[in-house]
Amino acid sequence: METFARLDEESGFHLLLTTSKEIVDRMKTFKVRDDDVWVITYPKSGTTWMQEIVSAVCADGDLETINKTSLTERVPFIDCVFPFDKRPPYIDLEEMTSRRLIKTHFPHQLIPPGVLKQTPKVIYVARNPKDVIVSCFYFFNGFISEPKLKWDEFFQLFIKDEVPYGSWFNHNLYWWNRRHEAHVLFVTYEDMKKDLSNIVHQVSEFLGHVLNEETVARIVDHCSFSSMKKNPKVNKSEDVMLDSADSSGKNIQFMRKGIVGEWKTHFTVAQCEQLDKLYKKRLQGTDLTLDVFF
Ligand code: A3P
Repeated sequence: METFARLDEESGFHLLLTTSKEIVDRMKTFKVRDDDVWVITYPKSGTTWMQEIVSAVCADGDLETINKTSLTERVPFIDCVFPFDKRPPYIDLEEMTSRRLIKTHFPHQLIPPGVLKQTPKVIYVARNPKDVIVSCFYFFNGFISEPKLKWDEFFQLFIKDEVPYGSWFNHNLYWWNRRHEAHVLFVTYEDMKKDLSNIVHQVSEFLGHVLNEETVARIVDHCSFSSMKKNPKVNKSEDVMLDSADSSGKNIQFMRKGIVGEWKTHFTVAQCEQLDKLYKKRLQGTDLTLDVFF
């Protein structure tokens, strides 16, 4: 069956098909700058949402200017080379003037070492793993031609860490443990849904951009689900692989639901118990609990 992931033998991680071995190798020597801003997430946790917020904050709320270029250009995704990329984004980033805004899903083991050792700003967005599984299910299935994976099949792959970027637990736990460091801002998708204005304030303070209430309110409106869904610069409709049914009939709706708790309509009782049990086991002895998301 056609798939969406490949096993990187050297690291043991499953990665996207668009993440070549060359990219993984180049990350080992990629030069990190202290004034970089890295948006780091496990997939489908609200990355795009946070990218747009960061971009708007760094432009001091000049939405007219940021609307002129795609989010992918403003905040390149360092992990992959897509068919629509003219060249690998890490090369664009090497040549980009500061301040660079960078998106990655790489777990800490594959991230350029400078991100962990130096002090670029890191914004980590975490999302309830149950909703992450549902969102990943719809997204990754879009890369597969018929037959698509069934919900239960995908759930089991996730449980076995056989989805791109591997274990949700290890990915989240690493940054959760570093969340009190001055150059790390750890936020949750659920808190973004609850009070986006508060998050925009946090991001602007963290990045050193003083914004007045009126500007914050405009950014909040610009980054609402409904605004982003119809904004071609962020909804990925301009990326040929996504959001459009292409010749092979694939169709990935990027801005899909944008809600909290969709897992309740997908998980069976047994799956819920299985995940809760796994969560307890993998995060035993840490203070990262599911309560963090509620
Ligand atoms: P769903 O599939 O649950 O709808 P990422 O950018 O990390 O790939 O995350 C994508 C998820 O974030 C999708 O979730 C998408 O709908 C949601 N999302 C994107 N922008 C959002 C926004 N402005 N408000 C709420 N959710 C948003």
